[in-house]
Amino acid sequence: VRYPVICIDGPSGAGKGTVTWRLAQALGYQLLDSGALYRIVGLKAFEAGLITADASKVIDEMAVLQLTQSLDIAFVPNNESGRVDIIVNDEAVGEQVRNETIGGYASQVAVYPKVRNALLTLQQDMATRSGLVADGRDMGTVVFPNADVKVFLTASAEARAKRRVTQLMEAGQVADFEEILTTIKARDDRDENRTTAPSKPADDALVLDSSMLDANAVYEQIKKHCQNQG
Ligand code: C5P
Repeated sequence: VRYPVICIDGPSGAGKGTVTWRLAQALGYQLLDSGALYRIVGLKAFEAGLITADASKVIDEMAVLQLTQSLDIAFVPNNESGRVDIIVNDEAVGEQVRNETIGGYASQVAVYPKVRNALLTLQQDMATRSGLVADGRDMGTVVFPNADVKVFLTASAEARAKRRVTQLMEAGQVADFEEILTTIKARDDRDENRTTAPSKPADDALVLDSSMLDANAVYEQIKKHCQNQG
């Protein structure tokens, strides 16, 4: 049996998380949060002293690879947060991996082909048990090139930074627009310009710009696209 795969790729803050969760719920599919894999590896690499926050340290790719191979990662849907909980070596990793600092660590380790390759089977295996909605940067281009539906969901860096500011302020945190914008652009730049599996739309992807759309409109458009693709 071959199960259906829906790929939602694009930069951070374009609204992938919300739409992938809603699609997975509506269709009864599993959800692959591939960014969480790179976040875990990034966090562990930082803890092991293999990378630094300012990305100044030259990464020992073999050491990061070994670390990646030592991790047993699983996802459990959490209806309260509307995201998957991440379990690493039988221990729950809290929501703190979702912050921008860890996002930066993730994009540092995500540059390395050996690291990406070590995470490949784990991701592809998730499509062997049920339908899958996969959230990432290279779902449609590298991990699931034969996927049934591919969407590249993007938005201007300014729109994404604005959303982030709103989110942080709603959570009672301080947020500086310019600082967030700079961080977002730096991460985009690293993700789009790396040699291996750069963030870009697959040739057969629907490219959707969410700058002027709310989460509901994004969901409806992608749902319609899925229906049209059969
Ligand atoms: O999607 P998220 O913001 O959680 O991803 C964190 C980082 O992990 C990205 O900025 C990117 O560097 C990396 N990533 C990747 N390939 C994916 C998903 C995430 O390289 N499929």
